Parts: sequence; structure tokens; C-alpha cells
Amino acid sequence: MLSLTEQAHQLCGAASGDIVIDATAGNGHDTLFLAQRVGPLGQVYAFDIQESALKSTATRLTAAGMTNVRLIHDDHAHMRKWIEPQHRGCVSTVMFNLGYLPRGDKSIVTKSSSTLAAIDDAISLLHVGGRLTILAYPGHSGGFEETTAVERTVAAFPPSLLVKWYSGHVGERFSPKLLLVEKTQSDETPTPVAG
Ligand SMILES: C[S@@+](CC[C@H](N)C(=O)[O-])C[C@H]1O[C@@H](n2cnc3c(N)ncnc32)[C@H](O)[C@@H]1O
Repeated sequence: MLSLTEQAHQLCGAASGDIVIDATAGNGHDTLFLAQRVGPLGQVYAFDIQESALKSTATRLTAAGMTNVRLIHDDHAHMRKWIEPQHRGCVSTVMFNLGYLPRGDKSIVTKSSSTLAAIDDAISLLHVGGRLTILAYPGHSGGFEETTAVERTVAAFPPSLLVKWYSGHVGERFSPKLLLVEKTQSDETPTPVAG
């Protein structure tokens, strides 16, 4: 059975030449995956608030010879301002892998206020058919509150945003959860009225 990280990679839908975002670069596994998927014609934006995470990601990318990634040392809540104006509304994939940096400082974690602001920005940056994946970990300190906040937010999404949840161990309260959101309509397109 695939891990949730592998499932997120399968679900994200990034393809050659795409503009994509890794909202939480961490040790760079997802950033490298995206960089290889979009290839030299594509562009990856990768965010992290920790310098050490960006260094780790840069090392991984250099070792793989990838030059199509822009590493950004900032809170993903400020994502929109870093994306080139011509790329806004043209992003195919945004990946969030929440929580703390593995093998890093476990007190530095993603927090619901900035995560929700970033999700909002991410959706505004997607093109129609674009996808957001969110891997959330309710098991660590603050993680349950953050996962619940994400659950509540996506439950209130309009029908133009298709939401699907995947769980590592169904029914387990603190098991990691993977969320897929697909933008099926542009913000400007009115929902057709039945009848
Ligand atoms: C679980 S790790 C990400 C793992 C990563 N995707 C990988 O493939 O290795 C979570 C990362 O989110 C970062 N982070 C926490 N809060 C953040 C924020 N507000 N904006 C951007 N990154 C943040 C942490 O520093 C940490 O490196």
C-alpha cells in the first residue's frame, strides 16, 4: 500500500511545463518530486520559514541537477505576492505537507492561521482543473487543532471546489490525513442554475 506522501504525489496531477508550488519545502522530497515532474519547461516555487529546511532542499535539488525551483524564505501565508503576476491563476498544483521538519526543531510547526490563509491564496492561484494536496498530522502538539480547522474550512467550500479526504488508518482520530481539492470552475464562472 502506498504511503500518504506517495498518494499525494500520485494525486497532484503536475505535468511537464507546469507552474507548481510546494508550500512547505522541509527536506525537499516533495520539491524534488515536483521539479522532476514539471521538468525544465516548468517552474516550482517552494516556501519554508526555516533557513535549515531551504538549505536541505537546495542540497537535494543540486544533487539531482534541478534548476527550475525558486526557494523562498517566507511564511506561505504570503504566497501570492511571490508568484509572478503571469503565473497567478496558472498554477496546476500546490502541495502542503504540514507539521514539523523531520529531524529538525519539533517546536516549529505549521499553524492553522497561516495554513488557512495560505490555502486561500493557493486556491486563488490555481487554474481550473488545478489541484491542492494537504497532508495533515493531527498527532503532534497543535496538529489536531490545525487539522480540525482545515476540515471545517474545506467543509464550507463552494461546489466549484471538489474535496476528497484520504486517511492512513480509517477511523483513527490521530492518524495522518490527506486532502485533495480540485478547482472545477473559475471564481468568475457562475454556477449553472438547474431547470
Ligand atoms: C512536514 S515538513 C515538510 C516536508 C517536506 N514537504 C518534505 O518533502 O520534506 C513541514 C515544513 O513546514 C515548514 N513550515 C512551518 N510553518 C510554515 C509556514 N508558515 N510557511 C512555510 N513553511 C512552514 C516547516 O519549517 C517544515 O520544514
